[in-house]
Amino acid sequence: MDKRPIGMFDSGVGGLTVLKEFRKKLPNEKIIYLGDTKRFPYGSKSKEAILEISKKCVDFLISKNVKMIIIACGTATSQALDSLINSYDIPILGIINPTVEYISNLNLEKPRVGVIATSGTIKSGAWEKKILEKIPEAKVINEKAPLLATMAETGWTSNKVAEYTIKEYMKCFKDIDILILGCTHYPMFENLIHKNLEKNVKVLNTGTILAQYTKKIIETKKMENIETSGQFEIYLTDIEADTDFLNIAEQFLGEKNINIKEANF
Ligand code: DGL
Repeated sequence: MDKRPIGMFDSGVGGLTVLKEFRKKLPNEKIIYLGDTKRFPYGSKSKEAILEISKKCVDFLISKNVKMIIIACGTATSQALDSLINSYDIPILGIINPTVEYISNLNLEKPRVGVIATSGTIKSGAWEKKILEKIPEAKVINEKAPLLATMAETGWTSNKVAEYTIKEYMKCFKDIDILILGCTHYPMFENLIHKNLEKNVKVLNTGTILAQYTKKIIETKKMENIETSGQFEIYLTDIEADTDFLNIAEQFLGEKNINIKEANF
């Protein structure tokens, strides 16, 4: 047993979609969530900047004595995961490998896989590379959606602007079997996304898959916490940032009186 918390980071509210799934699948684990609001958005930054930022986030979480790090962010996973794994001893997981493994286990014949993500993630080609490594006969359709993370930060996930924007972004996904929500902010638009796709398209929330994957790892390595129950702590790098973080978090997680602390780096 390992009673230390799990550390998780993203640029803002996006990773809360991962946190929510972890609380369902790993209800005894304590989680320390870091929202790097000072450096939002990640999606338009260079690979070098993302790597530097990710290291700072990992160092902060390690200073909180976490037992493992979850990169609750597609952009940081696509551009920094491999390098972080080489630089730190602590287990570090991202959203791409577990999701690709999940798709591969579905054993679909010539799956047509849509990927919607930030500009940085799409530019990195990380999803396409991993998918084709595991499933060479797959067809991958990529679409960057730079507006969505900002809209999610302001809570615009179901209004008219969101309806119109999602409709536009879904236009290129007419002929797919699976849609990967490759940015963790996007599950906040899940209802609208479903509405604009054929009924048979499987929409993947990477947080759900990552939580299941982490549960297996934690159990195999006997790292689970069996004593406490589902507490979490939230840190933001800029509490004053122009984001509706607290309201969105309370609404999305269904919790009242969430206490937010400042992470100074
Ligand atoms: N939620 C993040 C991702 O999964 C970051 C979005 C952003 O900051 O641009 O890519």
